Amino acid sequence: MPLFEPWNVDRASAIIAEFRDREGPMLPILHAFQDTFGCIPEDAAPLIADKLNLSRAEVHGVITFYHDFRRKPAGQHVLKVCRAEACQSMGCDALIARAETKLGVSLGETTADGRVTFESVYCLGLCATAPSAMLDGRVVGRLNERRIDALLAEVQR
Ligand code: FES
Repeated sequence: MPLFEPWNVDRASAIIAEFRDREGPMLPILHAFQDTFGCIPEDAAPLIADKLNLSRAEVHGVITFYHDFRRKPAGQHVLKVCRAEACQSMGCDALIARAETKLGVSLGETTADGRVTFESVYCLGLCATAPSAMLDGRVVGRLNERRIDALLAEVQR
């Protein structure tokens, strides 16, 4: 399980200072925040806006546009199922519904025991073997009921 630092304004300010002079600094800052703190906390947007001389709405817009930025740290495992076109056409929705029932959470949520964060993703580049998923960075193609059950068993052990 990754260990994240608690939110800290000084640490966050140092990260911003590291990237602020780069072209297009916001995404690298947000990724660095997520790598450091496990998520993009509420206090991040006003701080970034202030330091980069942007409006809070602009920063908030970027944070909410990208599905990868989390408002709360992820669970011990992150299971992502692709919902883009090829995977949709190969029946990913039924597999997502199956996983939601077995995990007891909806897409975008983390199980109460903190073991699994279940998310969607929009194309893993495995369209030829759709439907596809990714567990903790490991991609899995040709997903079916048996394979999704195996992934769920792996994360619930
Ligand atoms: S559409 Fe799912 S991997 Fe490309």
